[in-house]
Amino acid sequence: MTDKTMAMTSSEGNWDYPLIPGSVGPEVVDIRKFYGQTGMFTYDPGFTSTASCQSAITYIDGEKGILLHRGYPIDQLAENSTFMEVSYLLVHGELPKAKELDQFTYTISRHTMLHEQLSTFYRGFRRDAHPMAIMCGVVGALSAFYHDSTDITDPEQRMIATHRLIAKMPTIAAMAYKYSVGQPFMYPDNSVSYTGNFLRMTFGVPAEAYEVNPVIERAMRRIFILHADHEQNASTSTVRLAGSSGANPFACIAAGIACLWGPAHGGANEAALNMLREIARPENIPEYIARAKDKDDPFRLMGFGHRVYKNYDPRAKVMQQTAEEVLKELGISDPVLDTARELEQIALKDDYFIEKKLYPNVDFYSGVILNAIGFPTEMFTALFALARTVGWVAQWNEMISDPEQKIGRPRQLYVGATQRDYVEVGER
Ligand code: CMC
Repeated sequence: MTDKTMAMTSSEGNWDYPLIPGSVGPEVVDIRKFYGQTGMFTYDPGFTSTASCQSAITYIDGEKGILLHRGYPIDQLAENSTFMEVSYLLVHGELPKAKELDQFTYTISRHTMLHEQLSTFYRGFRRDAHPMAIMCGVVGALSAFYHDSTDITDPEQRMIATHRLIAKMPTIAAMAYKYSVGQPFMYPDNSVSYTGNFLRMTFGVPAEAYEVNPVIERAMRRIFILHADHEQNASTSTVRLAGSSGANPFACIAAGIACLWGPAHGGANEAALNMLREIARPENIPEYIARAKDKDDPFRLMGFGHRVYKNYDPRAKVMQQTAEEVLKELGISDPVLDTARELEQIALKDDYFIEKKLYPNVDFYSGVILNAIGFPTEMFTALFALARTVGWVAQWNEMISDPEQKIGRPRQLYVGATQRDYVEVGER
């Protein structure tokens, strides 16, 4: 806190509100006493000017296109680290020393299996259930299976729940896929990496040994790292809001998964690939650009634009490079990638997109890679949820440990009917 303040004057009086600086980025005006002093609320639908919490996990400079996890640039992490290392960093605040990383990796590997009865739970879903519907259900149901890690007042139980969630998400997502294709569930193999194990549980079968392709594994590792956390986005804020009431961590993460599913958020990767397939050929691009610009058409260019980034999303750059690498390795020439490249070039030169600062986001190229690896489109958002779980649990832990934490309870601008008397049904 500094002694800087922001003065506010209205016909009702004058008030001073303290300014609080962050380590980097905009200062915030501390309006906690605003209602008590002025009798007014602030109004900010979509929270475009509101900091809902203090956090030391992720920093975004949307103007410059910078994303830092605990201070480290995302492209450096995507290039050099493993998902286990980034998970440790997000949860504990520092990059692990070699021994700490070994211990963390060992602990996570010891929690990868699911309670056997959960496989029965899967069988309650229709075969054509969307994997995100299964993820919401199964992750929420974990609270019914792991009672010994739901006491949120106990830091040790919170850490066990954190490890369980990070460890079990690949198993849960892979089982959702296996269920949809009618193949047997694959148990985890703790002798391979986190990403290798996920690929094996998804694409392997019990009848054959599964060889992890190192290029695919590297691409998957990058995708997981690029999705690991992203500050106070909609699903993370949902996890925090759910957790603020004291709900258990499994229920909170299930709430985050539900929020992520929407096409304006995590569902955009699925929507972006569907859109690129629909465009089909570069010559159709102008028609779709025109639709995206038309105020009377609800169509938007999926994988384009961002609430915070008013520059190229740094994750999209790594994603594009990874898409090129994966397609080359697999010897695939995908017209969808050509369409994506062409669409990007046209949009970036178009006045509408330049003026509104709309650039490709993380979801623009990820679908091309996931499709090439062999994931069906419906699995894309489930993979996002898998990777984002580490960010969600890191943010949830930070919130529970914050002495300023309170139940989240926004107010409103009421515009409904004023008080009136009940009228009997026959007299209405
Ligand atoms: N195509 C066409 N126009 C767009 C797009 C787009 N993709 N995105 C924003 N605009 C326009 C929008 O119509 C508005 O125009 P105007 O000022 O004339 O009304 C202006 O740009 C500002 O848009 P907004 O909707 O007010 O911005 P927002 O911050 O509320 O929305 C967004 C951000 C990501 C929801 C939006 O850009 C969008 O819907 N993009 C497509 C979906 C998408 O790719 N989502 C993934 C986001 S990144 C991963 C994640 O967070 O999960």
